[in-house]
Amino acid sequence: MILPIIAYGDPVLRKKGQEIMKDYPDLEQLIINMWDTMYEAYGVGLAAPQVNCSIRLFIIDPSPFAEDENLTDPEKEVLSSLKKVFINPKIIAEEGEEWAFNEGCLSIPEIREDVFRKPRITIEYQDEDFNSFRETYEGLAARVIQHEYDHIEGILFTDKLSSLKKRLIKGKLSDISKGKVDVDYRMRFPAMKKGR
Ligand code: NI
Repeated sequence: MILPIIAYGDPVLRKKGQEIMKDYPDLEQLIINMWDTMYEAYGVGLAAPQVNCSIRLFIIDPSPFAEDENLTDPEKEVLSSLKKVFINPKIIAEEGEEWAFNEGCLSIPEIREDVFRKPRITIEYQDEDFNSFRETYEGLAARVIQHEYDHIEGILFTDKLSSLKKRLIKGKLSDISKGKVDVDYRMRFPAMKKGR
């Protein structure tokens, strides 16, 4: 089932997600719905708060990035096989010189901005069967994970912009929260109190 994606301005996007256990109600169905919702919107990642569920869960599939001509073959291979569910994740290390990448977010349609992040992360998490992992990711793979991880911490990529950039997009963000935006996937806008 396609779920409405919660738009910028809704308080659920600002909450820290709760850890979950194996018996979390309808978890399997929630994950299926999140995949459907993410692919319908052509996203490469989706976090549970974006579908109004304040828990520590996100999914990623950065395979569209593997098309990038500038990447090496090993990088392409990593990106195209990184369809994954992250439950109760914890980033335990972020290293390297910060680099800029033009990010967007399904909750903030029509805004894309360069965001600086460190290039290498180590993350501990559980998969959908609650097996535990500790892995290191670099480059675009790390980038997608960092963006989704921020969502379960209540952080949005627009928080990371300079104060000048923030001022420049303020009006657009307020329009998004009111539903004054052209978007071709299902969303719920906080200032409209209804979906579409
Ligand atoms: Ni996002």
